[in-house]
Amino acid sequence: MLQDGTDVRNYGGLLGIPEARALGAEMLGTAPGETLAGGNSSLNLMYHFVAWMMLHRQDAWQQDAAREGGKIKFLCPVPGYDRHFTICERFDIEMINVTMREDGPDMDQVEALLGRDPLIKGIWCVPKYSNPTGQTYADEVVRRMALAPGLAGQNFRIMWDNAYAVHHLSDTPDTLPNLMDECRRTEATDNVAIFGSTSKITFAGAGISFMATSTTNLAGFERYLGASIIGFDKVNQLRHVRFLKDMEHLEAHMRKHKAIIKPKFDLVDELLTGAIGGQGIAEWTRPNGGYFISLDTLPGVASEVVALAADAGVKLTPAGATFPYGVDPEDRNIRIAPTFPPMHELRQALEVLIVCVQLASVRQLLAH
Ligand SMILES: Cc1ncc(COP(=O)(O)O)c(C=O)c1O
Repeated sequence: MLQDGTDVRNYGGLLGIPEARALGAEMLGTAPGETLAGGNSSLNLMYHFVAWMMLHRQDAWQQDAAREGGKIKFLCPVPGYDRHFTICERFDIEMINVTMREDGPDMDQVEALLGRDPLIKGIWCVPKYSNPTGQTYADEVVRRMALAPGLAGQNFRIMWDNAYAVHHLSDTPDTLPNLMDECRRTEATDNVAIFGSTSKITFAGAGISFMATSTTNLAGFERYLGASIIGFDKVNQLRHVRFLKDMEHLEAHMRKHKAIIKPKFDLVDELLTGAIGGQGIAEWTRPNGGYFISLDTLPGVASEVVALAADAGVKLTPAGATFPYGVDPEDRNIRIAPTFPPMHELRQALEVLIVCVQLASVRQLLAH
């Protein structure tokens, strides 16, 4: 039995068990009443949120598109998370690249674009330890983001995928202002959907997910979801709450993750610096958290590096995957995910990658 008398073994409670909603709210910095605890995937919630906004609400985006005779569009800070872009492609939402700077998306660009086109209905954000570049949005960026709905057409949504909220690699973690609180100030809580999950806390693909938005949105989204599912896996939600307990325990758990994966990030940096540091052929990130190192080669070289590495038996994320439509306009970006392989395999893979970067760069320089 739960706090509210629910028997977790039965159907019901589409918004999640109260204990899990409270944990999710703590993680996302929202109120339990505006937070849903879901199934094993936050990406699935993002997909459904877009489907709901696009097709199923009373004032669905597609009606605006039909009225204006244009396509619905999303802003995509790049490089970014490929699966966000896949959701847009699935719904025929046109994607517009926005430059990702050290402090987050270029807000001058965001504001100018929003002011010009009311069919821009969303922006994808991974605000903390971004996938793949590792940046955390600066205070000023978050403040301006909360004002962005005022510049946009109706029903604009900030898709705030805080997948790496607690995934620190440093003893002095980055801090991110609370977007929901900022949006309370700008009266824009309807314009935000915040996501997170325990996929990189407990089990990838077998954790629990969270989504927070205004209670008005949440009620509408619950009605939409109710046609497709009676309730999420409450047993797994309870299991997670009993294991993770609260933020203090969760943070202690994350320190154990850090002890495992920080040496891998250090190894990547050490090998890259030793072999190709300061040569002007590649730049890479040294993130304070998250799961990725983002490597930029010389322009026009990334896809050759990935192909050469594949020939040598090292499978990297396809070049271009970090951009909408799989097209990196400069063909420079490679996402390195060092968390999974054991140290000795990571070292081998990096040695191969480095030779491939050197070879492809030399070929490129000789050709020009
Ligand atoms: C930014 C981001 N969001 C979401 C996900 C997937 O999350 P989930 O397993 O909860 O669907 C990932 C996985 O790599 C990710 O990097």
